[in-house]
Amino acid sequence: MIDLRQGDCLELLKDIPDGSVDLILTDPPYKTTSRGSSGGTGGMLKSDINKSGMVFKHNTIKFDEWLPECFRVLREGGHAYFMTNNKNLLPMLKAVESAGFNIFKTLIWAKNTAITNMYYMDSHEYIIFCRKGKARKINNCGTKSVMFFDNPKNKAHPTEKPVGLMTQLIENSTNDSDVVLDLFMGSGSTGVAAVNTNRKFFGIELDPDYFKIAQDRINKACEVAA
Ligand SMILES: C[S@@+](CC[C@H](N)C(=O)[O-])C[C@H]1O[C@@H](n2cnc3c(N)ncnc32)[C@H](O)[C@@H]1O
Repeated sequence: MIDLRQGDCLELLKDIPDGSVDLILTDPPYKTTSRGSSGGTGGMLKSDINKSGMVFKHNTIKFDEWLPECFRVLREGGHAYFMTNNKNLLPMLKAVESAGFNIFKTLIWAKNTAITNMYYMDSHEYIIFCRKGKARKINNCGTKSVMFFDNPKNKAHPTEKPVGLMTQLIENSTNDSDVVLDLFMGSGSTGVAAVNTNRKFFGIELDPDYFKIAQDRINKACEVAA
């Protein structure tokens, strides 16, 4: 089952029954501002950021609007991963807890690229790893909390994530045929990883151009897997 929908996740999540998702893996939108040469971009290239301080068109949705819906649709014992940068880490941790999740820990994606910054170059992002209800261990307990995956080159989306990283997270927190949800698909990296690992996938993206890119990438992955 691959179910891809173009639209606002706040509307489309209403169609998903309570407790029906095994894993939420998502890279949500958040504001990133460009400030002079100090590089207050949260690890983004300035060329990726428009005049309103936005990396892409739709990033005004607030954490406390979508996180409670994520909690509702996740099954008891299900895991969730929320990606974020330094600037948004603290507010997102607070919002994740307020929504009802229990936080296991914060993981690091080490990108193997670095962006200029006066206060240490930016070369990583955070992944908040949490659960709903009772704790359940990951499938490969030998996985380290710092994960080294190359930042994708020739990106189809300015914040595109490596499929290898998404694959590792999916394999650790789900089993064959489990349902993975990404409510902010972008170019569809989570969906490609879900198809490659034989999981079911529910994906949402608001921007029609990125939706088309995600749809094409995920359909291609399905053809290869067939
Ligand atoms: C950080 S990007 C995700 C990038 C993705 N991880 C990838 O590998 O390409 C977040 C995405 O959320 C989308 N978005 C913003 N608001 C949304 C909403 N209300 N509903 C669904 N998607 C939304 C944006 O258009 C953007 O493409």
